[in-house]
Order: sequence, then structure tokens, then C-alpha cells
Amino acid sequence: MRVFVTGASGWIGSAVVPELIGAGHQVTGLARSDASAAALTAAGAQVHRGTLDELDSLRSAADASDGVIHLAFKHDIAFSGDFQGAADADTRAIETFGEALAGSGKPFIIASGTLGLAPGRLATERDGLAPDPAQATLGSGPEIRRANAHKTLALASRGVRSSVMRLPPTVHGDGDNGFMAALVGIARDKGVSGYIGDGSNRWPAVHRLDAAHLFRLALENAPAGSALHAVADEGVPVRDIAEVIGRHLGLPVVAISPEDAAGHFTWLAGFLAIDSPASSTLTQELLGWHPIHPGLIEDLGKGHYFRNPSA
Ligand SMILES: NC(=O)c1ccc[n+]([C@@H]2O[C@H](COP(=O)([O-])OP(=O)(O)OC[C@H]3O[C@@H](n4cnc5c(N)ncnc54)[C@H](OP(=O)(O)O)[C@@H]3O)[C@@H](O)[C@H]2O)c1
Repeated sequence: MRVFVTGASGWIGSAVVPELIGAGHQVTGLARSDASAAALTAAGAQVHRGTLDELDSLRSAADASDGVIHLAFKHDIAFSGDFQGAADADTRAIETFGEALAGSGKPFIIASGTLGLAPGRLATERDGLAPDPAQATLGSGPEIRRANAHKTLALASRGVRSSVMRLPPTVHGDGDNGFMAALVGIARDKGVSGYIGDGSNRWPAVHRLDAAHLFRLALENAPAGSALHAVADEGVPVRDIAEVIGRHLGLPVVAISPEDAAGHFTWLAGFLAIDSPASSTLTQELLGWHPIHPGLIEDLGKGHYFRNPSA
């Protein structure tokens, strides 16, 4: 297939691109800078210059493709105070792709998340398929992202082979600059490796290369309207994560009270407090996907998160 990939230069996209090319697909990646364009060319992809805000350009790239994988997200503004602006841009891009692909039967896959799907119990692919008023507490940005996932699933009734790839909060691996790297950085800054409360709350996880493989399987075979879980570890207690970090950095592992969490972990506190395990049993059965790369604790144990003192 000729696949148009947004976010192709990002953490997950840069694993998805070689996975697709290795399986014989042709990839065109959206690039907003010379650096991203060069990275895509080096990976063997074609370059489509543009940004998430250039909707006509996104439309023409989708028209020229046999399928779209949408991974770009404005994390830069989302994590500096404008999550809603980032989510709104995502809505416009998804609506544009939906219009372009309607009636074509082509695959369209977006990235979404498992965090907060079913707090306190094991979330499955059957959770979160319809808007849930109880989730209104999440705040407008996350709510908009969830609405975007519903919009994407609904495209199935308009002749799009749409699916939503729910990723766990940590898509880990060598080079990760996301939540795990941030947690390591906070431990370094504070001189302790912390967890909130008793640290028994659980985070699911997946290795980046396993996630990339699942994106390809979804592109090739996911039925229209599939909610998929790219989950390898169903739920790693946050205390276990803190213990590996403490061991590698030679720091004490300490409980941080819920009252002190925001001061200690800043923007990460809300995420770190959630107990949000998730299963991928249905996804594995549907697509024959079986994660083979190291789980989160084994991956943290390899040491690459601790190499760079500025991480
Ligand atoms: N990583 C995780 O653990 C995780 C967990 C759950 C969900 N997700 C979701 O999975 C998706 C991919 O995440 P990621 O970790 O790969 O993100 P990332 O490393 O931050 O990459 C983001 C990508 O989006 C592109 N981008 C950002 N703003 C853009 C704009 N205005 N116009 C065009 N392109 C733009 C970036 O381009 P440049 O390379 O030019 O900056 C980059 O290719 C996102 O939707 C994310 O929220 C990720």
C-alpha cells in the first residue's frame, strides 16, 4: 500500500515507518521541518511537506494514498498549557481525513490512549466505545481527544476502514523522551525516586517496536470500527517503576503523599496517580499480534534511560 503517515518523524512514527517499509509498503510522511524531512528520507520514505494546520494539503496527501496512519500531535503546545488547542487541531485533521477517505474503504488509524479508560479495573477494547458523561472530569483537552476517537470509529459507517490504536502511557524503548524519561529526570532533580501513596496503582506499557508492528497489522487487517489496544504489560505498579529508577540512580525510593504529589511531580502528578491497567487480549486474538520485545521493567533495567544525565 501507499501509506500516508503523519507524525512519521516522532517517537512512534519513526518505528512505524521502517516497519511498513520492511513489509513492502510505500510510505509518505508528513514533515514540517527540514530536519524531519531529512529523517524521513533517510528512513526510505517520501516526504510530504506541511503541517497539521494545512488541511487542503492533508486532504490531497490522503487522496493520493491507499491508507492513512495519523500519529502527529502538537505535544509542544499541549504540554505547555494549551492541550485544548492541540486537541482542536487534532479534531480538524481527523475530520479532514474522514472527508477525504469517506466511501473509499481505505484504512485510517489514529493514535489514542488507554489512560483513564476504566480507572481501577482492567480496561478492555470494549470500554470507552461511546461518550461517557462520568469522564467529564478529565478536562476539555482529554475529552476532545476521546471524542476524536469516537469520531474516528464512527467513520466506519461512512465507508472508511477506521480504527483507533489506544496506546498505554508509556511506549518505551531506547531513545524514549516521554513519561519514563521525565520520571527519571524528576528523580535526578529531587534526589529521590518517588511514587504516590503506596505506589500500588498500575500503568500499562508497550515497547515501541511492538506498537509499531501492531500499527502495521491494523493497517493491513483491522476491520472497520476497531478499537485496538497496543498493550504488552497490563499493569506495572508505579512503585516497581520507582524501585528500578532508584536502583539505577543510587537514590532512595520514597512514598510521596497525594497532597505533596503536585509539588514533587509537577505536570506528571495527575498521570502518575491513575490506576489504569489495560488488556490487549481481544486485539491479540483479532490480529494475531504478540508482543516480543522487553517489558517495561526489563527495558528500564537495560540502563538506556539512565545514560544521559540531562534526561
Ligand atoms: N509516546 C507515548 O508514550 C504515547 C502514549 C499514548 C499516546 N501517544 C500518542 O501517540 C501519537 C504519537 O506519539 P509520539 O510519542 O510519537 O509523539 P512525538 O514523538 O511527540 O511525535 C509527534 C509527531 O507529530 C509531529 N507534529 C507535531 N506538531 C505538528 C504540526 N503542527 N504539524 C505537523 N506535524 C506535527 C512531530 O513532528 P516533528 O518531528 O517535526 O516535531 C512528530 O513527528 C500521539 O498522538 C501521542 O499523543 C503516545
